[in-house]
Amino acid sequence: MATSCLVCTGPVTQFLDLGRQPLSDAFPAPGDDLSREYFFRLALGQCSTCTMVQLLEVPPAERMFHQTYPYRSAGSAVMREHFARVAELLLDGRTDPFVVEIGSNDGTFLRTAAERGVRHLGVDPSGDAALEAAARGVRVRVDFFTEPLARHVLAEHGPADVVFSANTVSHDPNVNSILRGVAALLAPDGVFVFEDPYLGSVLANTAFDQIIDEHVLFFSARSVVGLLHRAGLELVDVERLPVHGGQIRFTAAHTGARPAAAAVDELLAEEDALGVHRMSRLREFAARTADRRRALVALLRRLRAEGARVVGYGATAKSATVANYCGLGPELVSAVIDATPAKQGRLTPGTHIPVLPPEAFGPGTADYALLFAWNHAEEIMAKERAFAEAGGRWVRYVPEVSVD
Ligand code: TYD
Repeated sequence: MATSCLVCTGPVTQFLDLGRQPLSDAFPAPGDDLSREYFFRLALGQCSTCTMVQLLEVPPAERMFHQTYPYRSAGSAVMREHFARVAELLLDGRTDPFVVEIGSNDGTFLRTAAERGVRHLGVDPSGDAALEAAARGVRVRVDFFTEPLARHVLAEHGPADVVFSANTVSHDPNVNSILRGVAALLAPDGVFVFEDPYLGSVLANTAFDQIIDEHVLFFSARSVVGLLHRAGLELVDVERLPVHGGQIRFTAAHTGARPAAAAVDELLAEEDALGVHRMSRLREFAARTADRRRALVALLRRLRAEGARVVGYGATAKSATVANYCGLGPELVSAVIDATPAKQGRLTPGTHIPVLPPEAFGPGTADYALLFAWNHAEEIMAKERAFAEAGGRWVRYVPEVSVD
């Protein structure tokens, strides 16, 4: 099946189909009419013109990102520290900067600016998250970041010296409008810094659960160069990040405004050497994904036959893909543990496994914990050391299905 590219309208060829899937952050309440749950076909393809890897079907953005969107950046101590460090890095050495964040969520990144009295503005469609940001002293405009909105911000506040965005640029099918907006808002010597999942890491780790409704685009250095170019922006630096299982911090500027670091050409060359954009490589990833499903389902069925109690840990958006693709319901995974208040007491999207708070987990409560939040493994395993000490075992499926 071919459709047209969200970035350049070129032809997109499918290489992976993960089937019928719900919205990954839509947790129904037990009393809800479950027959009204929204489903779509989660399939991935590549544009043969600009190389961008992308979803073939994209649910409407307003259905995914709205007033009660439950994800919170502050839910991980590692991510809180990560964003504090990035904020310091971007603010240090600037006199009276104006900083804009696209997708400011609960203000975890901008709070550093707020605490230093730095002029700032977050833009985010979730009003609930914006209230939590306000409690951290962070100003948020509750809306989607688009080119018209960027022009309003420019008229009201003047040009931005720094535009930052984490896990948002790759989430929006209107990405060209975002980038034109950034280009309009950015001061002549300003920087646009964005962090998103990296296609190369997804392929290397067989991290098929990174494919969710919200991850509309999977960036590589090559596809980002083309994406930025369309808006008059240029990629001037790239840095690999260990967070969320492998991301890249892309730094962009107005074309010609700053010299590009050697790291950009190095990553472009590495991508060519690894064949990140080759259809054969993408199809091989799809085959490994099917292998992981077979192995995980076989393991969980065996554990059930042995009478073992299995729970999931982390009601991540990623876990919706795994659970729905592998057909994991409450009979295989009896509960999913998650520290996010807005998810607790609810059911997992599509598979309807109850979400319970961390207090329901611990020594003797389960024999196996399927680590859905594998990107936070260190933090979670340190916090839940007592589970393993009492003989509990952790199960992973990225990069391979394994029992710790
Ligand atoms: P995350 O992997 O950050 O993103 P996504 O939802 O996009 O896949 O989600 C982490 C989830 O795990 C989030 O719901 C919070 C939860 N969590 C805990 O319950 N305890 C923890 O210690 C950590 C770090 C996360």
